[in-house]
Amino acid sequence: MTIRSKSSQFLRHLYNRTSSFLTRNNTKSPNFPVLSDHAAARDHAKASVETHCSVPQKMKSLIKEFKIYRWDPDRPLHKPYMQSFFLDLSTCGPMVLDALQKIKAEEDSGLSYRRSCREGICGSCAMNIDGTNTVACLKPIDADTDKPITVMPLPHMFVVKDLVVDFSNFYQQYKYENHAILFQL
Ligand code: FES
Repeated sequence: MTIRSKSSQFLRHLYNRTSSFLTRNNTKSPNFPVLSDHAAARDHAKASVETHCSVPQKMKSLIKEFKIYRWDPDRPLHKPYMQSFFLDLSTCGPMVLDALQKIKAEEDSGLSYRRSCREGICGSCAMNIDGTNTVACLKPIDADTDKPITVMPLPHMFVVKDLVVDFSNFYQQYKYENHAILFQL
């Protein structure tokens, strides 16, 4: 369970406890006579109950849009395009790779990307997220649900499919670099 969903549950629990306590003491009047001598406490109680009622609406704002680059070599006549997926962040892990895993498991099993270690060591989940080249397993999902997250393949590389790029050139250059370093030693 994520920290976000835990805190949502905790808030929900708190509001439930507060409203049940207040309504137990007064089920008919919304003025909380038990708190009549405490104006500030009464205001807080009203605000608490109002907030409790608005939690379900606020929970809807946990839906986040992920715009993901798609291209399938088996459909060469179709141009690359951006596909939007909408995820409930309260049921998703905190990193962009978690979101990709969830989309692949629950929405589109054809989505292609690489991943291996899930801890920022292997580099196989390298991709461009919101304009920055990074690894998806270490990139937290921006909690601002008004802004979509844009996920693209690494730039300046040939795309094999969706977010998978061709690393042949990279490995070739890496091999030459290694040789050069060895000769210098
Ligand atoms: S999966 Fe290895 S760096 Fe992300």
